This record gives sequence, C-alpha cells and structure tokens, in this order.
Amino acid sequence: MRIRKALIPAAGLGTRFLPATKALPKEMLAVIDKPVIQYAVEEAAGSGIESIGIITSRRKAIMEEHFRPSPELAGVLTEKGKSELLKEVEGIPRLAALSFILQPEPLGLGHAVLMGKEFVGEEPFAVLNPDTIYDCPIPCLKQLMDVYEEKRTPVIVLGRIDAEGTKKYGVVKARQVSDRVFQVLDVAEKPGPEKAFSDLAVLGRYVFEPDIFEALRKIPHGRSGEIQLTDAIKSLIETQAVYGVLFEGRRYDAGDKFGYIEATINFALKRPEFRSRLLELLNSLNLKDE
Ligand code: UTP
Repeated sequence: MRIRKALIPAAGLGTRFLPATKALPKEMLAVIDKPVIQYAVEEAAGSGIESIGIITSRRKAIMEEHFRPSPELAGVLTEKGKSELLKEVEGIPRLAALSFILQPEPLGLGHAVLMGKEFVGEEPFAVLNPDTIYDCPIPCLKQLMDVYEEKRTPVIVLGRIDAEGTKKYGVVKARQVSDRVFQVLDVAEKPGPEKAFSDLAVLGRYVFEPDIFEALRKIPHGRSGEIQLTDAIKSLIETQAVYGVLFEGRRYDAGDKFGYIEATINFALKRPEFRSRLLELLNSLNLKDE
C-alpha cells in the first residue's frame, strides 16, 4: 500500500526555546518568513503525502489559524496588487488535507504518535518531527519512503552525530546493508557518549505500519512519565526488520536555539534577495573569537 498519510507531532512544550515559547508555539517561530512547521508540511507534500494529522495542544490554536484560508488578507493583497504574496498565502491551506488532533497532555513523542491512531487507520504512514528541518535535494521523507517501497517494513532516518548528539537523540546499533541503508539492530534514547552504540542517531523522520500503535500501547511510561517512541521502535526490532536510511542533505534542529540560528543563516543564504547583503554583513563584522 502506498503511503498517503503523515503525522506531525507538534504538542510539545518547547522548553529548550524559552522564553520565546512561553506563549508562542515553537513550531510557529519563523525561519526567515515561514513558520518552522510549514517546512515539515511542505516536505511531506513534496514527498507525495496527501493527508496530514497535526498533533496539537490546547495552547497552540495559532497553528491551525496559519493553515486556514484567510479571505480578509486575500482581499487586501488583491487590492494592493501583491499577486506573488497572494499566491503564496493562498497556497498554504492547499499544501495537503490537514487535520488537527489534540494531545491532552504532553506525555512524550510516543504518546503524541498514539493520538494519531484513528486518523491513520490501517495503512502505513509517516511521522515528521517539525522542529527538525531538512534541506535535501530529495525530500528527506521521500528518501525513507523509497526504501519502504522496497522493504515494506519500518524505516527511520539516520544521521551522523558527535559526542554532544549522543545526549540529545536516540542512538542506534546498525548493520550496513547498502550505501545508505542500514538494518537497525538496537536503539537507545540519549545514551551519552560512553554508552552510545555508534555515531548514528534517529533524527525525526519515520515510516511505520499500524502495528507501532500496539507497541506504543504496551510500553511502560519511560523517563519522566513520558511514552518514548524509541522504546516502541526497540520493541518492533524484536519481531521484524527495521531499516535506517542515512539521509542525504542538511538538517537543522530548529527546536534548539543554536540550530535555529544555523537554519536561519542557511535559508537566508539561499535567498537571492538576502545572500549578498548577508555575506557583506558577516564580513563587515570582522569576526574574531574574543
Ligand atoms: P521534543 O522533545 O523536541 O519537543 O519532541 P519538546 O518536548 O517540545 O521540546 P523541549 O525539549 O521541551 O524543548 C519532538 C517533537 O515531538 C513533539 C514536539 O512538539 C516536537 O515536535 N511532542 C513532544 C509532542 O507532540 N508531544 C509531546 O508530549 C512531546
């Protein structure tokens, strides 16, 4: 069966980005002029996803607002003859069929995914963590979906990390099966540099089959009462092959303050209207590590 649906869990507290996220969802912080979550929606749509379930919380209604048509704004832009901007704004609600699903309490990424069970039904589906922004020649999710087409078993994205990364991400033990594809043999959540199996981490994109929901229901609440997606992946590995794809492209952790700065500079340098001015600005700062 073709993958048509995706979940975007966006109900977390965003504590790494306080105080900005005290009232504003971190998914609505803009990288240049586009909220972080829109990058994930565009990546999903660009990978062929038709329906997206966004897992949200009560304090994040503004996300829904962003993806709704805005006739008043369209009227003003038409009147002012701003046709390019109008096209862009009108395109946002049409990126995919969007549903918003409430996660009543932030009980972890695994719990957020579990909230999407009804929406997903009985088909394979994708999960995209929106605070991870990918900038890839082939959309990152599409790279996973291509491997799923061949293997018909769960596929997760893998990327190389440094020692600091072992404290932030799930780290895998894996056996390379081809150039960019690995079979995942084990996974540990934030193991730290001493206990890390390797320098390969799970970085926010997944393709699952509906049996992940059963796995999520069975696992005990892990660290700090949360249901960890990593634990569910670990239990899948006991009964079936799980593959990892070493993605090709660039990744930014926009839920982290420095990652957000990196993303902003990268996307600004890619915009012709900003590139030379930004390079000029950076050069003029006469940067030194004082
Ligand atoms: P993170 O751990 O990066 O998000 O979860 P967080 O908890 O919001 O961030 P910090 O660590 O406090 O800064 C990865 C993704 O899972 C979502 C988040 O919104 C994020 O996109 N998530 C996390 C949920 O939807 N629900 C949760 O209970 C936890």
